Amino acid sequence: MPNNSTKILLLTTLVSGVLVSVSSNSWLGAWMGLEINLMSFIPLMSNVKNMYNTEASLKYFIVQVLASATLLFMVVMKTLTEDLFTMEGTAYTPMIICTPLLLKSGAAPLHWWFPGVMEGLSWENCALLMTVQKAAPLMLLSYLIEINTFTLTIIFMSTVVGAIGGLNQTSMRKILTYSSINHTGWMLTALALSENLWMMYFAIYSTLAITVVSAIKLSGVSFINQTMMTNKETTLMKFMMFTSLLSLGGLPPFLGFLPKWIIIQAMTANSLAPMATIVVVTSLITLYYYLKISYSSFMILNTEPKWNLKSHKNKKTTNTKALLLSTVSLTGMAACTIIVNTY
Ligand SMILES: *[C@@H]1O[C@H](CO)[C@@H](O)[C@H](O)[C@H]1NC(C)=O
Repeated sequence: MPNNSTKILLLTTLVSGVLVSVSSNSWLGAWMGLEINLMSFIPLMSNVKNMYNTEASLKYFIVQVLASATLLFMVVMKTLTEDLFTMEGTAYTPMIICTPLLLKSGAAPLHWWFPGVMEGLSWENCALLMTVQKAAPLMLLSYLIEINTFTLTIIFMSTVVGAIGGLNQTSMRKILTYSSINHTGWMLTALALSENLWMMYFAIYSTLAITVVSAIKLSGVSFINQTMMTNKETTLMKFMMFTSLLSLGGLPPFLGFLPKWIIIQAMTANSLAPMATIVVVTSLITLYYYLKISYSSFMILNTEPKWNLKSHKNKKTTNTKALLLSTVSLTGMAACTIIVNTY
């Protein structure tokens, strides 16, 4: 909890915006919740001391306002065409209303604003943007989404952009952004199959995203080349950072594999095996470069400069929150499977 009353207020209204949005009965109420959420996030982002924050908040504001205005317009259009003229909703109405929501949640063809915004944010805001800010649009999408060519195209593009976009990135924020775009694709798959599946995925994804962010924030790196040069005291940080990254990437013994496993199973059970094959192949690309980054940081380029030792002495090397979360991310799946199998 931040020790700042403005932040506490804004976080409260941010979360209440999400709650208003997901619990509203009408599209107008949903739109209002999204707007409350946006208007609380903008002041949270901006910081007078950092011009990147201001730029990011401006970009985010413009894109989200575009999405909100489009959503409002589409909803009004839907009401006009379907009620006023007693016309049956066309097959395209759900897709048309989906589009601004997809823009809000950063799914693939509409993801362009996401890397630019994330690059200018503090780690706390990055975590908010990747988790809480996705909850309302995705929940609203669940009212509209069904398995059709449109949805499958979005899912395909999100996973491919997530996998290819993260290749050769050196910025941790960019890597997390592309990972988030990719996970949005997986969450859309989960949404199209069942809402409970999505809730499970979203809960685990949020936990893992927060784990990675707190581990990265603790070790204070913004670019992956900064992880190469560390000393003995920071090995734990490095370990936490990379195991949680691999967990986010869905490497089997870690928690991140659990939702992936369940989604793949649900997809094959719902005769989506071709799509499942594609998304698994894109996740292999991801795992290849995640493993490459981790492996080279641990084994190949691990230098321990003596002149760096002093500056790290005063730093707190362990942080209970990051340690706890990365323990969850490390052992979560094993714990779940053991509990399920002994019960
Ligand atoms: C995308 O999500 C899947 C499933 O969790 C994961 O296996 C893959 O590594 C992820 N890719 C990226 C870029 O995060």
